[in-house]
Amino acid sequence: MADPSLNDLLHVAVDAAYDAGRRTLAYFNTRVAVETKADNTPVTCADREAEQMIRATILKRFPAHAILGEEGGIHEGSDARYRWIIDPIDGTKSFICGVPLYGVLIGVEVDGRPQVGVCYMPALDEMVAAASGVGCTWNGRVARVSATNDLRDAVISCTSITTALSRSDAFERITSRAKVTRGWGDCYGHVLAATGRIDVMLDPRMNPWDAAPFGPIYAEAGGHYTTWTGEPTVWGPDGAGTNAALHREVIEILRGERRKAGW
Ligand code: IPD
Ligand code: CA
Ligand code: CA
Repeated sequence: MADPSLNDLLHVAVDAAYDAGRRTLAYFNTRVAVETKADNTPVTCADREAEQMIRATILKRFPAHAILGEEGGIHEGSDARYRWIIDPIDGTKSFICGVPLYGVLIGVEVDGRPQVGVCYMPALDEMVAAASGVGCTWNGRVARVSATNDLRDAVISCTSITTALSRSDAFERITSRAKVTRGWGDCYGHVLAATGRIDVMLDPRMNPWDAAPFGPIYAEAGGHYTTWTGEPTVWGPDGAGTNAALHREVIEILRGERRKAGW
């Protein structure tokens, strides 16, 4: 079989995220049973079913590709040049509260480089999709980060403000200079920043599946996704998504953070 193009990978990722996302809606706001995983985070049958659907779609189309999924772990595959990284429900805490700010995340790495990223928000029916060199779309229209170039005009968001404040002085230093701070969290904060509705999204704690699509999404939307120390990777312990103009200033503050006890 010929190597798939980035467009081929993108189309499969979009279809898989959409179908799995629509399936999660069958459980949304139904008081679905919640289990607690070993890492003390919640999971439901909607998370597991959505991930199984995505895996089946990938393997039907690309049987040799490797997969890493939050709920199902690692599938090595015989062609590890292609690795799919899945978070079937990012924002499970929102999902189980009946809050629509959760999304299905799929990233694809080619030769170790994140090249494709998709985030579908089923309850909002927002699809953000990108592939390197192909562009980033938001429900089919071009997605662009904002042009805000002064932190005093910026809207900042974060998944858990209490966690951000407990980590270090950096979040407080950024938000005290900014215009507005909100807690539009998990993937939705990144969707908002990548589509130019807010300017900066910070998350003090990330796993690769939380971040996998956002490297390509921000890059193609004209912004940046990095760790808090400014590394352009989706494999870091934390994440910062910004527009182009504010990136340097935000990362400088994050780099200079003074950690608090326990971090
Ligand atoms: C969570 C989100 C959140 C991050 C947490 C994750 P989940 O994912 O990605 O932004 O701060 O560390 O656990 O559990 O809702 O998929
Ligand atoms: Ca997640
Ligand atoms: Ca998840």
